[in-house]
Amino acid sequence: MQTDTLELTSIDARHLDGAWNLSRAAGWPHRREDWAFSLSVSVGMVALDGDRVVGTALMTPFGGESAAINLIIVDQRMRGRGLGRRLTSAALALAGDRTCRLVATADGLPLYEKLGFRATQEIYQHQGFVEVSQPLVGIEWADTASLPDLAALDGQACGGDRRNLLEQIAAGGQFAILRRSGAIAAFAAVRPFGRGQVIGPVVAPDEETARQLIRFVAASREGQFLRIDVPGDSGLSHWLDGLGFTHVGGGMAMTRGASSSRQPSIARTFALASQAFG
Ligand SMILES: CC(C)(COP(=O)(O)OP(=O)(O)OC[C@H]1O[C@@H](n2cnc3c(N)ncnc32)[C@H](O)[C@@H]1OP(=O)(O)O)[C@@H](O)C(=O)NCCC(=O)NCCS
Repeated sequence: MQTDTLELTSIDARHLDGAWNLSRAAGWPHRREDWAFSLSVSVGMVALDGDRVVGTALMTPFGGESAAINLIIVDQRMRGRGLGRRLTSAALALAGDRTCRLVATADGLPLYEKLGFRATQEIYQHQGFVEVSQPLVGIEWADTASLPDLAALDGQACGGDRRNLLEQIAAGGQFAILRRSGAIAAFAAVRPFGRGQVIGPVVAPDEETARQLIRFVAASREGQFLRIDVPGDSGLSHWLDGLGFTHVGGGMAMTRGASSSRQPSIARTFALASQAFG
């Protein structure tokens, strides 16, 4: 079938079921609620074959300077005919001048390279049921009044304004925080996603603090299926394996556009919000 005649239109709530069917067919764990979450913080396009959703591509803006490109999926029967390129190009057009990031699957990587993305580092996906006993010293759960401080710390670590995203995470999840001299020095978010709960983002000044926060959060969700996606430079992948989070794959972080001139930061990202949001 020709795909260049298929209509591309803005995605909205009417396309939720079709989009969800597409991600399930691709073997992705998203629930309908996870798509609704993504739509609440993103704009994007769908390709329609009549009423049927046969392709998706979202753009999640993080302020005016950076964005994540995500949920790029083409119906298996229509792949290899240019639809992925059309959809991704449309999502990039929505991003305008923003620097775009994504985490590529093996399927998507050649396409993104052709569209000007370059690989930065590997992302490791870990998941499973873990048992963590942890004396809970010095770590507490944040209340919503802390969100501006959390967003500021997150912004230092990732270079974007993700307040919107963090507010949505807070609506269904929680943030564990560690204070130093009264100020929030590190945090780890946890929220429902896919088969269970996802831990991330985790932002901390150093690896040991990140580990403490992850242990704290994992201990609070004992008996539940947990997932965490960590960048290669976090140094956490082997440690997570040892904790019982099995390494099950991952992707390649890629970026496109001017790298922002960021101030040196004391906070780093040790786990992603998800592969979709970085
Ligand atoms: C990734 C995906 C969206 C691509 O959709 P598609 O419609 O098949 O892509 P296109 O036909 O537009 O191909 C895009 C380009 O990549 C190229 N390409 C695709 N696979 C390739 C490969 N294995 N090696 C080299 N180039 C490849 C194509 O030749 C094409 O290049 P061109 O535009 O210069 O001709 C689709 O494979 C998919 O839905 N996969 C499952 C979900 C997924 O992994 N999504 C990516 C999430 S990051």
